[in-house]
Amino acid sequence: MKEPLRFGILGTGGISAGHARDILNRDDATLVAIADVSTDAMEGFVARVIPLGSPHPAQFTSLEAMVAGSHLDAVVIATPHTQHAPQIEIALNAGLHVLCEKPLATTAADARRVLDLAEKKSRTLAIGYQRHGQSQFRLARHLVHSGTLGDLRLITVLIAQDCLENFRPGASWRADPALSGGGHFIDTGSHIVDMMLWVSGLEPERVYAEIDQFGTDVDVITAASIKFTNGARATFAATSLSAEPWREELTFYGTEGVMRLGRADGLSYQVKGGDLVFPRAASARDVRPLEDFIAAIHGEVPGPQAPAVCGLRVAQVTEAAYRSAVSGRPEPVG
Ligand SMILES: NC(=O)c1ccc[n+]([C@@H]2O[C@H](COP(=O)([O-])OP(=O)(O)OC[C@H]3O[C@@H](n4cnc5c(N)ncnc54)[C@H](O)[C@@H]3O)[C@@H](O)[C@H]2O)c1
Repeated sequence: MKEPLRFGILGTGGISAGHARDILNRDDATLVAIADVSTDAMEGFVARVIPLGSPHPAQFTSLEAMVAGSHLDAVVIATPHTQHAPQIEIALNAGLHVLCEKPLATTAADARRVLDLAEKKSRTLAIGYQRHGQSQFRLARHLVHSGTLGDLRLITVLIAQDCLENFRPGASWRADPALSGGGHFIDTGSHIVDMMLWVSGLEPERVYAEIDQFGTDVDVITAASIKFTNGARATFAATSLSAEPWREELTFYGTEGVMRLGRADGLSYQVKGGDLVFPRAASARDVRPLEDFIAAIHGEVPGPQAPAVCGLRVAQVTEAAYRSAVSGRPEPVG
């Protein structure tokens, strides 16, 4: 039996609880420390997440203090977006493996730098893109890559949420571009850009985007058009002003078939002349980011299911979209 991996969690807000429970539920991992600029956030985390009678993790008010004060093997980073890259660098330079929440970084240059540093330090750097471990998305990628749809020519993507309140000035760090790096497109949109790229395997070449801030300081509606290097196109629509809580739809049109993925309707596809098929994954078990991260650290899988390169590619598309919204022209990716 290996020594349990010693984990720290940086940022003890909303998303941290799921990662913490995944650590606490394992015999081969232990949560030894947490860090947050807010002591209230850490107290709230302990009350929500640590079972009664269990030892409490040590608390620190910075990553540097947590690294110096605990003998960590790995850290989960769940802080505002523009802090991710500098915090990943501190953690990697301290010899830690890193599971970072999305987006990996808010610029392509930052994403490239942390990717290169992880390679140089031979540490695992994974992203909390949970869809990579979900059977529906894995099967969708397999269907594309096995040629079932022929050559992809068009992808249509929609992410619609009722979350404008998050982006109203003063509401939270999400409303402040200095901390968030942008609005809805870099936030939930990050997942969907990632799935468009990961499922399709296509290389984006240029992006044209129009953005509406709707009285906020960040993007809350985005309409984008993407051209890929093979000549295929995508349309990408994102809104945080929907009356529905969440709608997520990706449709992949190939020369031989069409495949739909939706939060409500699941996965279906149809090839020319065939019936509509609702395929079932061989293994329906989803692999959560933390479980996969530990397997990657131990070398039990070739690499993390959502590796840093996915974060780099998303950052390149996001940056090009934001540049295009300012320039009014299509902008090259990369
Ligand atoms: N994978 C997903 O589906 C998913 C869902 C929600 C959020 N997220 C991501 O998780 C991250 C955190 O989002 P959240 O919703 O938990 O936000 P949150 O506001 O609930 O929590 C963020 C925490 O970080 C703390 N913090 C801020 N600056 C810090 C610093 N320098 N050092 C340490 N702590 C600091 C804040 O005090 C707060 O407690 C973001 O990157 C977000 O995009 C991912």
